[in-house]
Amino acid sequence: MTGRNVAVIGGGTMGIGIAYRFAVAGARVYLVDLDLEHAERSVGRVGDALERSVDRGKLTSEEADAAGGRLIPAGSVESVPLEPDFIIEAVIEDPDLKTTILRAAEERHPAVLASNTSSISIDELAAGVADPGRFAGMHFFNPVWAIHLVEVVRGTATSDETITRIVDGVAELGMETAIVNDAPGFASTRLGLALGLEAIRMVEEGVAEPADIDRAMELGYRHAMGPLRTGDLVGLDVRLAIAEHLWGVYGDRFEPPRLLREMVAEGRLGKKSGRGFYDWR
Ligand code: NAI
Repeated sequence: MTGRNVAVIGGGTMGIGIAYRFAVAGARVYLVDLDLEHAERSVGRVGDALERSVDRGKLTSEEADAAGGRLIPAGSVESVPLEPDFIIEAVIEDPDLKTTILRAAEERHPAVLASNTSSISIDELAAGVADPGRFAGMHFFNPVWAIHLVEVVRGTATSDETITRIVDGVAELGMETAIVNDAPGFASTRLGLALGLEAIRMVEEGVAEPADIDRAMELGYRHAMGPLRTGDLVGLDVRLAIAEHLWGVYGDRFEPPRLLREMVAEGRLGKKSGRGFYDWR
């Protein structure tokens, strides 16, 4: 990535992680947010993450300083230099906002234009850009510095060249790709949710305790984390919203279980609220 220019638009949870990855790999990273003040705050948060990596022995302080020096806060898409190698959009999950941002980003003539959307159709977003051949989904996972996968979502019009550029770029980040065609829930969300919803139905039916269900998958199938603990980390309200969406698309196999609705209604949202299937307090 040395010598490459990259812009990340949206310096929230995901944008910070994506900027971290590119900066550590050697790219010059323009981190764009609502205005310069927001962008500077986001760059500061990437700096905090770099410092934590030094404390954990993942980076030397020289590496962290060098990566920090490659981060440039930007108050608007217009301040990104022309012809960057990648522009990755990571603003909130709002199709209209994303379309507006992608249009502005395209004016910078990036080699690759990508969205980190977790649920919006890539073809729907592609309809708003002038050159959909350069556009694809690059779905990073939270926390980005710890999960080494990018799910690459190929839209109907995405060119082979764009896919190759993404696969090569992700490899330079020291990460792996899984390539999927555009379909609701892509591969990871759809399959992860199917497992998560069935696990919730098993708790509802009294088949087993959450910890036993999770242990069965962790030890029996070598999943790094069981489906219920994963749901607690993602947020049960987030899982419910995605289940509602996929239920509408794929039908009853994604119908949200009664227990999930009850827990969300009670404010038991998982780690962020202190309680979900586990007690996090
Ligand atoms: P977030 O709410 O933490 O961050 C969004 C950022 O976008 C904020 O810093 C906000 O100020 C900025 N923003 C809003 N409007 C803007 C504009 N007009 N111009 C520039 N910046 C603007 O959201 P988060 O969680 O980082 O999600 C971002 C995207 O990543 C969403 O599409 C989400 O679905 C997707 N995603 C989220 C994951 C997660 O675990 N949080 C996992 C994978 C994908």
